[in-house]
Amino acid sequence: MAHEPLPRTFLLRKPLSGRARVPGDKSISHRALILSALAVGESRIEGLLESEDVIATVAALWAMGAQIDRVDETVWTVKGVGVGGLLQPEIALDMGNSGTGARLLMGLAASHAITATFIGDASLSKRPMARVMEPLKQMGADFSVTPGDRLPLMVHGAVPAVPIEYRVPVPSAQVKSAVMLAALNTPGVTRIIEPERTRDHTERMMGGFGAELRVESDGDARIIEVTGEAELRPQNIVVPGDPSSAAFPIVAALVVPGSDVLIENVGLNPTRTGLFEVLRDMGADLTFENEREVGGEPVADIRARHSALRGIDVPPEIAPRMIDEFPILFIAAAMAEGETRTSGLSELRVKESDRLSVMARGLKQCGVTVEEQEDGLTITGTGGDKLRPLETSIPKVAAELDHRIVMSFAVAGLASQHGVAIDDISPLATSFPTFPPMMADLGAIAG
Ligand code: S3P
Repeated sequence: MAHEPLPRTFLLRKPLSGRARVPGDKSISHRALILSALAVGESRIEGLLESEDVIATVAALWAMGAQIDRVDETVWTVKGVGVGGLLQPEIALDMGNSGTGARLLMGLAASHAITATFIGDASLSKRPMARVMEPLKQMGADFSVTPGDRLPLMVHGAVPAVPIEYRVPVPSAQVKSAVMLAALNTPGVTRIIEPERTRDHTERMMGGFGAELRVESDGDARIIEVTGEAELRPQNIVVPGDPSSAAFPIVAALVVPGSDVLIENVGLNPTRTGLFEVLRDMGADLTFENEREVGGEPVADIRARHSALRGIDVPPEIAPRMIDEFPILFIAAAMAEGETRTSGLSELRVKESDRLSVMARGLKQCGVTVEEQEDGLTITGTGGDKLRPLETSIPKVAAELDHRIVMSFAVAGLASQHGVAIDDISPLATSFPTFPPMMADLGAIAG
């Protein structure tokens, strides 16, 4: 998707205060649409994230026969085609910036009698796809792809696909979910072994739609068995607020003196809460209020108050439970007293950007002492003092088409002497289009 760069500078006006809501969870929104598209009948989704990534999934499912409608500001409906019922798409499926949409839909196409072409933006076209192609090939799907196994590619689905036992070699909820979705239209039992637990929204939601699913725990490992061919019943789904989006105003409040904010309706699935645990270990004043369950997921309002943070060694085992939150953790670390060391993060190099090098470069521009290792960063914080770049001018950070880099440096701007400029904030549209007005409501200023 071609786009015009939209530069912006983030500056502090005053302490952040008040209440805010973040948009619906991105992972849950993709899964709600996809599983609804496979059910027989009409599902209703409340609180869907309306962002470019999710709309790309809507468009792709439309192209494969699902009827999806926006009823009003909060509700979408999906009339599904039934498992096995996807139609041959007549257009290439343009997944934009979305790795989740691309990989999950590749799984779906792999066990249907269709050939689907996947394309994406410059960032998505650099990301590795072999990790999903490998198990899907074992299930019988075929791929036309240029050397390097990147987008654009074509999936030729297998009917019938064959059930496999697959041990996921990298901790990845996307790979796990792609195989689970392919398994829905595969006769017999597909068995997935996940050595390190990753987000389990697919498991929770597939069970809710009536799929025959067994999940066994073995320490931190999970064994998931999906029996095909499944019949899915339409559901009413309520999507909670995205903890990965809530992370930004929460860290902003922790690092800006005098701040006190309440972020309402945040999903607290235990496979997603690593950041909040690490921040508490660093001394953050975070409280969970009004804890409840929404649509089968734990939810709370999170209150964050300015805190004196201390650097820590972040245990690598926690990484899968906070994989998208490292960019903003690095900003918290830059404002903490002492050193924060992270490791085991080589996956961050294949996200929407190489998040270790892009964050290291941007932090250095902001005057922070950072050492970059192959699989992590070591950051020496200011002990709460404002970030001061070595040069007197406002640093201009390159966001590399990565929404989480944009938001992380927006928060850095609020904690800086003169603010931080970002070369292009348009990637916000992929996950959090309302980030600038929400931050402005809390007292931040963007120029
Ligand atoms: C996601 C899984 C994670 C995460 C991504 C969303 C999902 O990716 O980074 O933002 O919804 O399954 P990996 O599976 O590549 O770790």
